Amino acid sequence: MQDGSSPTIVAIDGPAGAGKSTIARLLAQRLGYTYIDTGAMYRAVALCSERQGISWDDPDGLERLTLSLDLEFEPDGERSRLLVNGEDVSEAIRTPQISRGASEVSRWPGVRCALVEQQQRMSAEQSVVMEGRDIGTVVFPQAQVKIFLTATPEERSRRRTAELSERGEEADPEQVLQEVLDRDRRDCEREHSPLRQAEDAMEVVTDGMSIDEVVEHLARLAEGRAKA
Ligand code: C5P
Repeated sequence: MQDGSSPTIVAIDGPAGAGKSTIARLLAQRLGYTYIDTGAMYRAVALCSERQGISWDDPDGLERLTLSLDLEFEPDGERSRLLVNGEDVSEAIRTPQISRGASEVSRWPGVRCALVEQQQRMSAEQSVVMEGRDIGTVVFPQAQVKIFLTATPEERSRRRTAELSERGEEADPEQVLQEVLDRDRRDCEREHSPLRQAEDAMEVVTDGMSIDEVVEHLARLAEGRAKA
């Protein structure tokens, strides 16, 4: 919080592979705010449903499951870990299969409502940088700072491929590009809370910019708006 008054919300939305997670995490560190990765929460629902044999096409089962999960972010050095009912799932949710599952389970309003409520609660008493697809449009339409972070599909697929290979996973760039495009299509075309830029969001296209440049740019923007 800036001065003991209401918390500041920095909302960062955008498509897959735009660099949101890295940038939002570094921006939160820089501003001294809490970082919340809402995509990790949808991923956790996909992971748990797969483990429990609940179909990604079963809205009622998925809603019940989501309501039963205890999701908690725990700081871990510069990163944060996601605990689901006490288990650290930070690594398990980062597979291509769970990426696809997250975009399948996030179609359902019951799942979305349950997670949005938790996201709003997480930021009731602390300033946050929250990233996702619907933060500036649905979760916090009143956020003081709204950023729509994007990059060309080719750049986003290049980053995803590099991210996977850093984790020692073989990835075919063509296939990664196709998966990125499929996920964007599902996220933009779904009926409930589709990915779209809020009218009052500032668009930042990150092609050709270094991570530090983007963080610096956003920090200035956020500091200016938070004071306003
Ligand atoms: O950001 P990340 O790639 O981890 O998100 C995984 C999936 O979760 C997205 O493709 C999207 O379908 C869903 N999601 C969402 N709303 C959010 C965050 C993520 O629908 N606020």
